Amino acid sequence: MSQFHWYPGHMAKARRDIIEELKLIDVCIELLDARAPKATKNPDIEQLSNGKKRIVILNKADLSSKEGNQKWAEYYKSLGRDMAQVSLKEDRGIREVRSLLLKAAEEKHKRDASRGIKLKRPVRALVCGIPNVGKSTLINSMAKKGVTKTGNRPGVTKGKQWITVSKEIELLDSPGLLWPKIEDEESSVYLALIGSMNDEAINTDDLTVRLISLLRERYPRILEDVYGADADDSVEEILSKASAAGNMVKKGGVPDLDRAAKSMLDSFRNGKLGRITLEFP
Ligand code: G4P
Repeated sequence: MSQFHWYPGHMAKARRDIIEELKLIDVCIELLDARAPKATKNPDIEQLSNGKKRIVILNKADLSSKEGNQKWAEYYKSLGRDMAQVSLKEDRGIREVRSLLLKAAEEKHKRDASRGIKLKRPVRALVCGIPNVGKSTLINSMAKKGVTKTGNRPGVTKGKQWITVSKEIELLDSPGLLWPKIEDEESSVYLALIGSMNDEAINTDDLTVRLISLLRERYPRILEDVYGADADDSVEEILSKASAAGNMVKKGGVPDLDRAAKSMLDSFRNGKLGRITLEFP
């Protein structure tokens, strides 16, 4: 999914699809990347979800820093938003997601009761987010513990599959795809770093330079510990030390800086550089 090219036609289709999907549900699970919650949020969701309940899930909290996680938790708390920080790949946080959905179900049943509706229908939820934030991973985790029912039976929206998570919660089996909203240059760098933009549209050298300057500024210890480099070193010196650390040399023992740059990006993406939050509230 991360290789998706966001041509205007694709964006328009994604927009039409999600508008239709949102009509079917009561709760929108807004999935964001814990390393860059601002850049991975598409602010259009506020208008598109049209007053529907939203819960925010910051995924990949295993890759973001503890300090960053704490700051974002405080931020969402100050807004009074229902939020959880999870690490779906490690199967951590599903319980929190379920309990937030349960809370949403209770709120809905109370609202229904005040309007004289006694039937406690399960709340229906949709997982929304830009590419690569973990939508499929979340749906799969929920499906593992739930029962999937297809939309050919009475009471089930035709053509759709719903996962019965519990008697109170149903989840749409396919994700609501949002397009990345690139609001500024910094956001586009963060989206590229976390792999939510296709790599063909990105100059990897430039991206590595941005990663290095970010590490220099905020995580100098990582440069030191992983590459034996100093924050004051030039980009070339840092890459040279990284190629030495990874034994990346070309013929004649020349440091392979291109390979070192790519490897640095990969190491950031898979957490080998350590836990890094890119942006703070
Ligand atoms: P999407 O549907 O929103 O596009 O995302 P998807 O679930 O496909 O997840 C995108 C990538 O993020 C996957 O890696 C997935 O394993 C990884 N991922 C999901 N949740 C977490 C998490 O909590 N922590 C970490 N570190 N990674 C997570 P992939 O490289 O595409 O596949 P693979 O590594 O699973 O083979």
